[in-house]
Amino acid sequence: MKQHIFLSSPHMSEEGYEQEYIKEAFDTNWIAPLGKNVTEFENEMAEKLGAGKAVALSAGTAAIHMVLKAIGVSQGDVVFCQSLTFSATANPIVYEKATPVFIDSDAESWNMSPEALEVAFEKYEKLGKKPKAVIVVHLYGICAKIKEIMEICKRHQVPLIEDAAESLGTTYHGKYTGTFGDYGIISFNGNKIITSSGGGMLLVNTEDAEEKAKKVLYWATQAREPARWYQHTEIGYNYRMSNIVAGIGRGQLKVLDTRVEKKRYIYEYYQKHLGDLAGLHFMPMMEGTKSNCWLTSVQLDDGCKVKPLDIMLALEEDDVESRPIWKPMHLQPVFAECDFISLEAGLHVVDEETGADNSVSGQIFEHGVCMPSDSKMTDEDLERVCDVVRELWEQM
Ligand SMILES: Cc1ncc(COP(=O)(O)O)c(C=O)c1O
Repeated sequence: MKQHIFLSSPHMSEEGYEQEYIKEAFDTNWIAPLGKNVTEFENEMAEKLGAGKAVALSAGTAAIHMVLKAIGVSQGDVVFCQSLTFSATANPIVYEKATPVFIDSDAESWNMSPEALEVAFEKYEKLGKKPKAVIVVHLYGICAKIKEIMEICKRHQVPLIEDAAESLGTTYHGKYTGTFGDYGIISFNGNKIITSSGGGMLLVNTEDAEEKAKKVLYWATQAREPARWYQHTEIGYNYRMSNIVAGIGRGQLKVLDTRVEKKRYIYEYYQKHLGDLAGLHFMPMMEGTKSNCWLTSVQLDDGCKVKPLDIMLALEEDDVESRPIWKPMHLQPVFAECDFISLEAGLHVVDEETGADNSVSGQIFEHGVCMPSDSKMTDEDLERVCDVVRELWEQM
């Protein structure tokens, strides 16, 4: 019987590092949302990435929520946010009763278009509104045009948040994503390149990193004041990572480089074995970047006889998981009222069923597929996937 092939599933170390750290937590009875694993996971991650300060939290979403609070985002504020992303990037803006303004991607990087960001600044300046923050995403591990985006944010004196949930291990000229912006966030959800079963981390890279991290820690642990009794002057959250979860994370961090190499191997394997198919293109690799290739994603030309759904259905038939490209936020009914800034003139829906439009992000969504990119895949698994896909072209 054929084995199910996952899109991207948890992959614990062969050495059993995770269990050693968990055992230590059990042996010392630190079964709590604090302890050595939590502290060390933060230190080890900050050191590995070269981040100012790291705060371990219950989820990447919690990290985005906390950073928005740290910046002071509140009711009536506007936050510029990449449209082509997972909803968790944008939801915390609404938790704080602020308004997201979505920014289109560019075709070169698939991520936030620096030109569209500039247009957004111009438009909102005329409206007398300065955004409180900009959130850029390194989707699927592809590095965004971070240099250009940093320059724009600096010039406008607006803090930059990097959503590096999917890009842990990706570098730009040797420097890790998540450490360019004033803040970065990482996710350790089950499908990420390394997982702690669920969890996230906030990276603080500002000059006052120590102070900001302390404040986040305070909110994330129920905003308890230093008093003998439970004393509160602010609303708090229960967002801290547990010592058991952090133990898994520490073990996984030891194999991050190995996972990046394997994910890159998967990308290269697909490129080698599918790269000649007419009308099929791979996700971009920007110059100077080394992507973690979290999910290898492809695009099919408009005129290509094979459609993304054909690939997904054929793989499904063979018990192989794949997924559409994330549907952009500006096309989500929940954000229908939000503004969207695109360089594309005359925006209109091109696919009634999915709601895809002719924006750059809408087109990447319409024409794309995330290929199975599980780090446990063998060469036989990769060959099996390629055979299924090639057959579709042969049938044409
Ligand atoms: C781009 C992006 N941002 C944020 C998140 C949220 O992370 P978490 O699931 O850890 O809350 C995810 C993944 O889930 C994601 O893919």
